[in-house]
Amino acid sequence: MAKSKQAPSSNTDPLRAVIRRLSETLSSQLQAHQARIFPPTARKSIRTFTPAEVAKLLGLAEGYLRTVVSDLAARDDNDFNPATGPGNRRVYTVEDIAKLRRLLDESTRGARSPRRYVQNRGPDEQLQIIAVMNFKGGSGKTTTSAHLAQYLALRGYRVLAVDLDPQASLSALFGTQPELDVGENETIYGAIRYDDERRPIQEIIRKTYIPGLDLIPGNIELMEFEHDTPKALLQRRSDEPIFFARIESVLSEVESDYDVVVIDCPPQLGFLTMSALTAATSLMITVHPQMLDVMSMNQFLAMTSDLLDEIASVGAADRNNWMRFLITRFEPTDGPQNQMVALLRSMFDEHVMVNSMLKSTAISDAGLTNQTLFEIERGQFTRSTYDRALESMNNVNAEIEGLIKQVWGRS
Ligand SMILES: Nc1ncnc2c1ncn2[C@@H]1O[C@H](COP(=O)(O)OP(=O)(O)OP(=O)(O)O)[C@@H](O)[C@H]1O
Ligand SMILES: [Mg+2]
Repeated sequence: MAKSKQAPSSNTDPLRAVIRRLSETLSSQLQAHQARIFPPTARKSIRTFTPAEVAKLLGLAEGYLRTVVSDLAARDDNDFNPATGPGNRRVYTVEDIAKLRRLLDESTRGARSPRRYVQNRGPDEQLQIIAVMNFKGGSGKTTTSAHLAQYLALRGYRVLAVDLDPQASLSALFGTQPELDVGENETIYGAIRYDDERRPIQEIIRKTYIPGLDLIPGNIELMEFEHDTPKALLQRRSDEPIFFARIESVLSEVESDYDVVVIDCPPQLGFLTMSALTAATSLMITVHPQMLDVMSMNQFLAMTSDLLDEIASVGAADRNNWMRFLITRFEPTDGPQNQMVALLRSMFDEHVMVNSMLKSTAISDAGLTNQTLFEIERGQFTRSTYDRALESMNNVNAEIEGLIKQVWGRS
């Protein structure tokens, strides 16, 4: 037998010392990497939008958009004049789009059946809380949550994105670095904790660089909720919400400020996820169509239904408006994936989203620099790569928007 190599001296250190050292190295390297791709002084921003995209976001014909925008820009009472780019075509910022919605609403006010461009829900339309889940890691929860939240904001809804994952990938995608930019008590833990340090959720919500989109960031502090809850269950005061009702309870405090809440859940069925399940009016389960992923989802479904039974047995309301499986990172030319998708569709029928999210280097590359498809400049990719990814993403999000509108009874 070959003589084993001399172990490096550090291997004689206690494990905790080795892990501590590796953790410090990784942490400083990551910070350096972050500083390179996204300097602390840089403000994150979203790309500009073409007339065709804006027309689609507003649900207008492009020619009509051109006319109304020229008319509005010619007026001197509204400070609205989107910049023009190459070929004298207008380019729209997200602020331009938000302002255009308001101006269009004003200009059609009083009409017999005015169209609504600002989409705020009415008094009979319930706040939609969508939890994006699956305990399989890497199934696309965060990618789905981030794009859905941004898409809905661009479509004119008031959206709150909640990062419930201690890994805080959603916050990072939104340009909020969990170790640097998120301090103590600045995650939802601050609003749902059991002790006297608890603070109002309003103080924790942040604006983002997209009008209509707010964020509750995450970081490792969220783990505290998993640690505190068993103890709190033993000493619970009857005038306080039990653990699984706590997210629902704090979201109700800001209910009137939003139309949709999107919760990005961690890849486990802990107390945080259970609390999100209870708060949710709808459930999106992301599935990568591969055997191991589907087997793991099988366990996830069994455990989730057991949990929901338990939660229901203590009287929590079951507010299931819809639940859907979303196929993620789908490769249409991959035979086994297609078989898996066909199997899922045959078992779960209408519970599987009609549109799947295609696998695309535009999405994974954008993710490397903490960006979404709405942020990354399309010039970084071949046009067809970018456009195919965006089309797939828009189709998925439009289908979800359709489900929301259906709940509200809108056509
Ligand atoms: N449609 C896609 N095409 C290509 N890459 C994708 C796509 N969706 C997600 N990815 C990549 O796959 C990885 C995992 O995605 P994501 O972080 O969204 O999964 P997750 O379920 O939130 O993971 P976790 O369980 O760790 O929270 C990321 O690197 C992401 O950029
Ligand atoms: Mg995630």
